[in-house]
Amino acid sequence: MHDLQLAAGGRLRHLITLAGMPRATIERLLERAEAMRRDSQGGARPLDLLDGRTLINLFFEPSTRTRTSFDLAAQRLGALVINFDIERSSTVKGESLLDTIHTLEAMHCDAFVVRHKESGTPETIARNLRSNAAVLNAGDGNHAHPTQGLLDALTLRRRVEDFSKLSIVICGDIRHSRVARSDVDVLRTLGVRDLRLCAPPELLPQSDAAEFAQCSFVHTLDQAIVDCDAAIMLRLQKERMEAAAIPSEADYFARYGLDAARLARAKPGCVVMHPGPINRNVEIADEVADGAQSLILEQVSNGVFARMAVLAELLERR
Ligand code: NCD
Repeated sequence: MHDLQLAAGGRLRHLITLAGMPRATIERLLERAEAMRRDSQGGARPLDLLDGRTLINLFFEPSTRTRTSFDLAAQRLGALVINFDIERSSTVKGESLLDTIHTLEAMHCDAFVVRHKESGTPETIARNLRSNAAVLNAGDGNHAHPTQGLLDALTLRRRVEDFSKLSIVICGDIRHSRVARSDVDVLRTLGVRDLRLCAPPELLPQSDAAEFAQCSFVHTLDQAIVDCDAAIMLRLQKERMEAAAIPSEADYFARYGLDAARLARAKPGCVVMHPGPINRNVEIADEVADGAQSLILEQVSNGVFARMAVLAELLERR
């Protein structure tokens, strides 16, 4: 993968995964995201770094935050954005994915932002391009969601100095979660040692899954959250589950839902994160989602700056 996404000299060519990405590259992107926040005055002032560049959003799965924030990030950098409408495209007539990509490339575009239910689709596209376009993974199957990992790291970094001292629990449907995988990748690389994964057994990954090596697996949230500095809650992704494996929402909330009483077992001031969309009172109680320790909407704001940084890194003319 590294031959694919990193060019000689450490420059990013594509963004497919955070697994194995050098710490220096991650830190450079996070610094740049902070610079984007400052230079754009929090999004109020447009920049022109990507003037004349074209980006195509190709979302084969639904999205609110990721698609809108890629769109805003690109437009605030001066790029032209096409939100490709899959439902009204020739995909419904049976045109293949690669034929679609080659057709769009023939009109010239500089980047594809791709979300797809199959793991590996962004990589397949990147390996089959006929132009110099960059591919940005906006979530593929349960494999990776690299810009979510970056925006989560950016959100935590504004609150903490030393990642190596943090205890973090990730709770929810980890087995099906690309967010969990990209968060573990980035948090490990930034030095987090105490990473706890919490879910019912059927939603935990296999205990020998290489992506989660050295994480601890804890079966109850009451136990997993003790003394944590951050809790990252995940949605039950029913669209990725076998019908039989879907837990009842009430049972799930009783054992794995984050309410104020459970949050009180963490360190005082423990921050609460969630990539969205949230299922209120399934994985997170209203009082916590809307409470003072919730960073959920800060994550959304940071997503725009993280995506501006990645787009500038990939597409800026040098
Ligand atoms: C997530 C996704 O699609 O991977 N959402 C997001 O991008 N913020 C998580 C989810 O759908 O539960």
